[in-house]
Amino acid sequence: MLEGLRRLEYRGYDSAGVAVLADGSIQFRKKAGKVAALDEEIAKAPLPASTLGIGHTRWATHGAPTDANAHPHVVDNGNLAVVHNGIIENFAELKKELAEKGYNFVSETDTEVAATLLADVLATETPGDLTKAMQLTSQRLEGAFTLLAIQSQFPDRIVAARLNSPLVIGLGEGENFLSSDVSGFIDYTKDAVEMGNAQIVTITPDSYEITDFFGNPAEGKEFKVEWDAASAEKGGFASFMDKEIHDQPQAVGDTLLGRFDDKGKLTLDEVNIDEATLRSIDKIIVIACGTAAYAGHVARYAIEHWCRIPTEVELAHEFRYRDPIVTDRTLVVALSQSGETMDTLMAVRHAREQGAKVIAICNTRGSSIPREADANLYTHAGPEIAVASTKAFLAQITASYLLGLYLAQLRGNMFADEIQAVVNELKAMPEKIQQVIDGEEQVKALGTEMKDSKSVLFLGRHVGFPVALEGALKLKEIAYLHAEGFAAGELKHGPIALIEEGQPVFVIVPSPRGRDSLHAKVVSNIQEIRARGAITIVIAEEGDTAVEQFANHVIRIPQAPTLLQPLLATVPLQIFACAVATAKGYDVDQPRNLAKSVTVE
Ligand code: F6R
Repeated sequence: MLEGLRRLEYRGYDSAGVAVLADGSIQFRKKAGKVAALDEEIAKAPLPASTLGIGHTRWATHGAPTDANAHPHVVDNGNLAVVHNGIIENFAELKKELAEKGYNFVSETDTEVAATLLADVLATETPGDLTKAMQLTSQRLEGAFTLLAIQSQFPDRIVAARLNSPLVIGLGEGENFLSSDVSGFIDYTKDAVEMGNAQIVTITPDSYEITDFFGNPAEGKEFKVEWDAASAEKGGFASFMDKEIHDQPQAVGDTLLGRFDDKGKLTLDEVNIDEATLRSIDKIIVIACGTAAYAGHVARYAIEHWCRIPTEVELAHEFRYRDPIVTDRTLVVALSQSGETMDTLMAVRHAREQGAKVIAICNTRGSSIPREADANLYTHAGPEIAVASTKAFLAQITASYLLGLYLAQLRGNMFADEIQAVVNELKAMPEKIQQVIDGEEQVKALGTEMKDSKSVLFLGRHVGFPVALEGALKLKEIAYLHAEGFAAGELKHGPIALIEEGQPVFVIVPSPRGRDSLHAKVVSNIQEIRARGAITIVIAEEGDTAVEQFANHVIRIPQAPTLLQPLLATVPLQIFACAVATAKGYDVDQPRNLAKSVTVE
């Protein structure tokens, strides 16, 4: 199990734990930190020999990465152990209900609530049937989850459930496995079974049985794993970056989960800023670096539009040293995937010293920036391993939009139905992002074809402008290719002189269904550069035929409201950069001179 956890560590590595069943009792060890810390714990306090167990490596969503919040969660006087991935959206109301029944909780996690509910159902409704208990429990859980449970009465089985969160079955000789992906058992078997969504599985050493949440039998799809152990950690993708690009529908979907209270109102994760203060803010400053700063630029368009609060976006290192005007009515939003970027951390400290309130939007629980902020809104993108940020960018935009809507709700700038309409559009994005990814072959071919370009330019207007900047950054950092992003309107003020025969230029075209003038102006910009010999690669939404006559290549993205288009238009640019770097034979995940987390100023 420990070996399997090590292989799955790329999914999360802030704490780990295992529980085994031996001689009718469950024993467990769990520890904050990497699997190596758990190893040491087990070396100090060895576990008994056993042939049944569950393990987990965690990426915190509810509750900080502490020993107590690590999985497994063991309840029912030590008789039931559960591990869990995902987010249970209705955990607060279930917790209240269970507390009223007399249950106590020792952690802050949603997992302990699910485990307690399972124990309660098993004891009161389905005695002697763990599978049935899991079915009934799953019917009551909302959100996304994979749950695995063992119970001391059942020494030969693990029962698991999944809803919108991965789980695969591994079939061995007289032994069976469950894992989030095949890398967890690749050393033991290459025979695997794919389960459907919203299903339950019970495995014993020589059988597996799948049902839906209501007990109706279901079929799994058996398949042979074709990856070797080394590539399995990347889920079969050639690089972590490639994998993380493909993780994006889930990253955006997960970031949207669990954001509403029982009255349907938007909530943040940890807020120590009172509502009166939030109502009184007269300026927002978004501070961040690199890709996160571009996410901030995108967010600005939405926040100003929805909340009518003047919003600035500033590179954290520039903000810190320029004597910015910050008052106790300024809200500073710090965007950071790692939560450890020193430039951003220093800017957070500076802002707080000046009396500003700070909200952090970070991907890493328990990291420095959220620890020092007054309020937090976590992105749930999962660990990002590749140095070039991809899924964190989309999750940062999503979370910033939620913040904008939250402020609009609080300050009465938007009606509930207007907010709901945007939220519904946001909820449709994961599927649309998947559609863009499904078209990746066209973009990869372009990347290979253009690998020897000396320079690539990117143009965009409105929210398309920061997308252009992000597209250029991706290409610089992993393909070492000169690239620049421009505001399309700025072209005629100088950069158009760069255009010569054969110059590749990506153009992000706004929706023709949005603000008319925006679309028409960008189409004119395409004509201007095309007339001067540029090779135009146009990213335009389905049905936008106006661009076709001026485009050498059209990359189609699904229709979306103007403000949400960056969640789609960025994806081909990431795929393109990854393809160029791959074609040039570079290490896509660890580009030269860079580090994932920049912890020096
Ligand atoms: C680019 C990239 C960097 C980071 C920047 C901030 O692909 O990854 O530009 O976005 O270093 O990092 P975080 O978000 O961890 O603060």
